[in-house]
Amino acid sequence: YVLGIDLGTSSLKGILMNEKGEVIKTKSATYPIDTPKQGFSEQRPEYWVVALENVLTGLSVDVADFGDELIGISFSGQMHSLVVLDKNNTPIYPAILWNDVRTTKQCQEITERLGDRLLEITKNIALEGFTLPKILWLQENEPEIWKKVAQIMLPKDYLGLWLTGKSHTEYSDAAGTLLLDIENHRWSKEIADAFGVDRSILPDLVESTDQIGVLKEELKARFKINTDVKIFAGGADNAAAALGVGLINEDMGLISMGTSGVVSSYEPKIADYKGKLHFFNHTIPGKYYSMGVTLAAGNSLNWFKETFGKGLTFNELLADVYTVEPGSNGLLFTPYIVGERTPHFDSNIRGSFLGISAHHQLKHFSRSVLEGITFSLRDSKDMMEKTKGKKFQKLISVGGGAQNPDIMQMQADIFNCEMVRLTVEQGPGLGACMIAAYGCGLYTTLEEVTKVFVHYKEATFLPKPDHVKKYNTIYGIWKDIYGATADI
Ligand code: XUL
Repeated sequence: YVLGIDLGTSSLKGILMNEKGEVIKTKSATYPIDTPKQGFSEQRPEYWVVALENVLTGLSVDVADFGDELIGISFSGQMHSLVVLDKNNTPIYPAILWNDVRTTKQCQEITERLGDRLLEITKNIALEGFTLPKILWLQENEPEIWKKVAQIMLPKDYLGLWLTGKSHTEYSDAAGTLLLDIENHRWSKEIADAFGVDRSILPDLVESTDQIGVLKEELKARFKINTDVKIFAGGADNAAAALGVGLINEDMGLISMGTSGVVSSYEPKIADYKGKLHFFNHTIPGKYYSMGVTLAAGNSLNWFKETFGKGLTFNELLADVYTVEPGSNGLLFTPYIVGERTPHFDSNIRGSFLGISAHHQLKHFSRSVLEGITFSLRDSKDMMEKTKGKKFQKLISVGGGAQNPDIMQMQADIFNCEMVRLTVEQGPGLGACMIAAYGCGLYTTLEEVTKVFVHYKEATFLPKPDHVKKYNTIYGIWKDIYGATADI
């Protein structure tokens, strides 16, 4: 068996799989997000350890032979969140999470101080969510704590340390710190020096698939594990998710519609998106992925339902949406209800309905919300295709949208691409299991692991040519809304 541990923002999930990629058992445990002030978002690393203890206990109690079969563990983890430890490896401040927005001032400082070098070295721009701005905030606001910091790391690495006693991080998570020289695979001396970050506090860098240690004897005894268990570094959740859906070549892209929407693409080499997309190291050694984020995807639909469809279920809200023609009879929606990341990186912009007419009914509004979310995802997808100079053959759709055939058809029509779905969705934890399976030597390449662990439904959704034509025209108009209305 291999165990994938997905350290999420609201829960930790353990997936136990056998070497054939079959799920033996999953267990999860939740924890809170602390918001001591508006815009703050924190978690004590101890919450994650307690959740992991609960998950391991649950698995060792429930699963016969867990103790005799487990050979490898790896991780996927929430990105960017800052964990700080003293010289005894004890956390000395709550982890400041990726969705914390206290660091606008620090982002401006980074952008001003580094200028073009930031993009040249890290391939990304400074955003509140990333780790370096959080370090600057700690230096400025908690100098006594900062003085005691002997090591910083990312959330899943703290669990790796807890299981093995050794500290490391790997490239896919280091890429989200703004301290990594992405192309040269090393911490950037230039950036670390510019902001007073002694490189001795940055953990050693390894590949996602590298072994970082073995499970401590005392933990083996506690969780009744009788085998030697190798622990592998694992990856950032988006990188592990990319692996877990089979994003191992440029033919396929990933569309994920959760609270936010994510479009990801495998990148065999450094590509120049000029900071318009995130660009991070993949879990596949030496490879990368690009990523665009629509901040409010499912969140826009949820907001719309709560505000205008009170008491309706999603199925009821969307029941007659498909009797409306593509384009919602001229009604357009932009999903910027909490600001937007890709491609505008504008936290002040807000959403809009445009072209409201006396004949529009609830179903037209609902449809235009779905279309607006999908147009926004198309912004990212089009940028990837344009920069690479090639089109995706297929897009893999995961998340809420993938459950609904009508939304899948809309995605096929708006993206003008064949849409596929997974037989079972396991999320980033599956990628972690795949890393462990590969690391343990059960397979010789990650491609082989993917063939065994990732399966798509046979039925796919093909674009309808008349809808594609119509949506191309409407998307052209929709794209102009941001520029034409942002000032207002
Ligand atoms: C990526 C990001 C989120 C977190 C969620 O840039 O901020 O997707 O990785 O865990």
